[in-house]
Amino acid sequence: MSNYIALNAFSMNTLSHLSPGVWRHSRDEARRYLDLDYWMQLAKTLEDGKIDALFLADVLGVYDVYGGNSDAALSGGVQVPLNDPLALIPAMASVTENLGFAMTAAVSYEHPFPFARRMSTLDHLTKGRVGWNVVTGYLNSGAVNFGVSAQEAHDRRYDIADEYLEVCYKLWETSWQDDAVIADKATGVYAEPSKVHPINHEGEFFKVPGIHLSEPSPQRTPVIYQAGASKRGLEFSAKHGEGIFVAAPSRTVLTKQVAGIRQALEDAGRERSSATILNQQTVIVAETDAEAQQMFESYLEVASPVGALTLMSGWTGIDFSKLKLDSTFEDQESNAIQSAVKAFSQADPDKKWTIREIADYARVGGDGPVIVGSPTTVADQLEEWVEETGVDGFNLAAAAVPESWEQITGLLVPELQKRGRHKTEYSPGTLREKLTGNTARINTPVTQNIRK
Ligand SMILES: Cc1cc2nc3c(=O)[nH]c(=O)nc-3n(C[C@H](O)[C@H](O)[C@H](O)COP(=O)(O)O)c2cc1C
Repeated sequence: MSNYIALNAFSMNTLSHLSPGVWRHSRDEARRYLDLDYWMQLAKTLEDGKIDALFLADVLGVYDVYGGNSDAALSGGVQVPLNDPLALIPAMASVTENLGFAMTAAVSYEHPFPFARRMSTLDHLTKGRVGWNVVTGYLNSGAVNFGVSAQEAHDRRYDIADEYLEVCYKLWETSWQDDAVIADKATGVYAEPSKVHPINHEGEFFKVPGIHLSEPSPQRTPVIYQAGASKRGLEFSAKHGEGIFVAAPSRTVLTKQVAGIRQALEDAGRERSSATILNQQTVIVAETDAEAQQMFESYLEVASPVGALTLMSGWTGIDFSKLKLDSTFEDQESNAIQSAVKAFSQADPDKKWTIREIADYARVGGDGPVIVGSPTTVADQLEEWVEETGVDGFNLAAAAVPESWEQITGLLVPELQKRGRHKTEYSPGTLREKLTGNTARINTPVTQNIRK
């Protein structure tokens, strides 16, 4: 295995992703999320830095748990307004050759039949550079717009997701045989009908009798990313994930999570190292420690603690406006992201978080940690996190944009390359081939079974 630290960039098609309020910073250009130029330039910057993939988060709903309404989210621009991530990808792919695109889409609101076609379309247009971050949704405010009174219960959302993936795998992996497309101009036969199969899926949640509408794309199944971290979520991510995302605030928490994921992979009949585990990580890097610290402080001046608690309320399903700032955050039931509650309430025996500390911590970088310093300092710390926790790499989040991205690719990347911890060239092939070094097709026990 290589000595490389895996690096994704983590963003969202919105004004303010994980550092609420920083859009007000004098150098920040987040408002340009509405310009295609902004995204195309970002893709080029990330490709210059040999970043594996741009991971685009998404939610279908507004953060209205804090205070019981969406006022704080709207007035602070906290992940709202929010545009669709998919539309950005073909434009970014057109100005890059190697950067991958990991798009988030929830299985809770959209039927798998059209969704599978959309992903195949993207996989064709990007020449096999697409990934899918499979999420089950956590905002009730999203679910109710689909005509239900509330989102499904936490574990049942994963049951639906399991079947959703089964339908997608059948469409992507089994509907069209490799040699179904003949495209013979002489005979006028494009596809051999006997080699294109209806999937005949009939399950508890979905009924899909027909064929996949797209012909096989370079990867067929996009690279599957997942972030389930509760007991049921972990079982799901270990079954499907080729990349697994976590957001651990400390090394102690991350060490436990990584060990849990490796064990879950083994329990799912997979190699312990068969999925790349990436922790969310905001880095603020400048030429010197002092300069980086100064930048960080200038972000903190405009970052919004209320915005941070608005995010935390959405993630945990717990209204933080009702909690006293100096009270400690205790473990409690959640129908949103159970692991987000546990990460701050009980996972670290050395740390009891107060609400004020959480607000302070999460206003830059959200629920993931922040590292501030010169390229040497940041690279040292990233290496220490990897050595100590066994994590494979990071989803790097920006504080101010595009400043953070330019600093990461211009300063941190060369330092990591110098240490042999980051590649200097991309490997050839599709996103999956680049990441695994070999296989173009997904190769988990569940997809092996479906292909049989
Ligand atoms: C780094 C990271 C990024 C995530 N991005 C999204 C996202 O964009 N949209 C979403 O609905 N959920 C997102 N999630 C939430 C996960 O999909 C999942 O609900 C959560 O991590 C685990 O839930 P569980 O603990 O309840 O199993 C993300 C989680 C992590 C750790």
